[in-house]
Amino acid sequence: MKIAKVPCLKGEITIPGDKSISHRSIMLGSIAKGTTEITGFLPGADCLSTISCFNSMGIEIQWEGSHVLVHGKGLRGLKAPKTILDCGNSGTTTRLISGILAPQNFNVTLTGDASIKKRPMKRIMEPLSQMGAKIKSLETNGCAPFEICGSPLHGIHYQSPVASAQVKSAILLAGLYAEGETRVTEPYLSRNHSEVMLKQFGAQVQTEGTTASIVPASELYGCKVDVPGDISSAAFFLAAGLMVPGSEILIKHVGINPTRDGIIKICQAMGGNITLLNSSDSGEPVADLLVRCSNLHGTEIGGEVIPSLIDELPMLAAMACFAEGKTVIRDAAELKVKESNRIHAMVLGLTAMGADVRETDDGMVINGGKPLHGAVIDSFLDHRIAMTFAVTGLCAEGETTILGADCVNISYPGFYSDLMGLAEQ
Ligand code: S3P
Repeated sequence: MKIAKVPCLKGEITIPGDKSISHRSIMLGSIAKGTTEITGFLPGADCLSTISCFNSMGIEIQWEGSHVLVHGKGLRGLKAPKTILDCGNSGTTTRLISGILAPQNFNVTLTGDASIKKRPMKRIMEPLSQMGAKIKSLETNGCAPFEICGSPLHGIHYQSPVASAQVKSAILLAGLYAEGETRVTEPYLSRNHSEVMLKQFGAQVQTEGTTASIVPASELYGCKVDVPGDISSAAFFLAAGLMVPGSEILIKHVGINPTRDGIIKICQAMGGNITLLNSSDSGEPVADLLVRCSNLHGTEIGGEVIPSLIDELPMLAAMACFAEGKTVIRDAAELKVKESNRIHAMVLGLTAMGADVRETDDGMVINGGKPLHGAVIDSFLDHRIAMTFAVTGLCAEGETTILGADCVNISYPGFYSDLMGLAEQ
């Protein structure tokens, strides 16, 4: 993919559905009784991996683009898959599904692509084992492929060392089937889509501060799920709108759950002009976001805001190159264990474009204000890295070439044409 500078971006865009919520709607729909009707579903490769896993366990899922019907078979309705479950590139599929599979009465092996096989799975194996799960990596590195031998579970109170919604969700899902109450406390609050949706499906979930708890359910019940636009995808349009001179973009129907809205807060703290319009809330809060090009200044990003913008940090790092002064990103070591090592990928790509950026143990330091030039960028087959550099390329002199650019299909099929569709000639 080749990207060149554009004069400005103008217009309206409705971005695809939230990836986290789409995964959860398939998972809960599959283990609920009756039909779950999903609108706004994200037909990205990651969510299709989740669909394919549940298809392999006997769940009928009819889908046509963003409209999906899941014919759930109840909490005990899954069948043993005949083959290994392939989670593709999706950490959410791999980790959340493990919580559902640990208490089943069958055995299963999970695997994924080259990236998944390097991502840490001990973070779910450890708490699930404490609950009584029989789960073990087939490798020596604690990664996929791993095997789960279904067994009865009991509740625990897990103090998670990381603020991770995937860890929290795996434990809560296992807790649906466990004896007694299951609790998870995390250092900072991570996205709470599982808690919100579990309640919608009839589970008894409580939250207090950074602790979530669940008691076993006799059944969940299928319902309607409207998936809002993904704020993590909207982030690329927010950044493009702020960075490309003269731009004004209206991004429609974006999920603004307070556990996910760190990108809006930090953009505003950097001087970004973003207005929320038409807010509504039926479980997951939603708004239209109006963004106008702004003079940005550097900021500090760390602490409890990090989980609420973890997937947006690559884009924020690039934005910081166009901001006056210094930006420090800290407490973000989790970036190293995402689809790629995102600290390394960002520092490499931004340096190639002429930015003043330095890698730290848990983040980056960026001195903004230096003009960037086009370069050949390795996406490391990481969708968020590819999209970040496509937006950055719009503001750089000369041509930017993104290698492995098709990986955007993981979370945003049609990304490049949507972005370029806003460019004024
Ligand atoms: C996700 C949680 C986050 C996020 C990922 C999706 C989820 O991961 O980075 O893209 O859907 O629960 P962690 O839980 O590892 O922080």
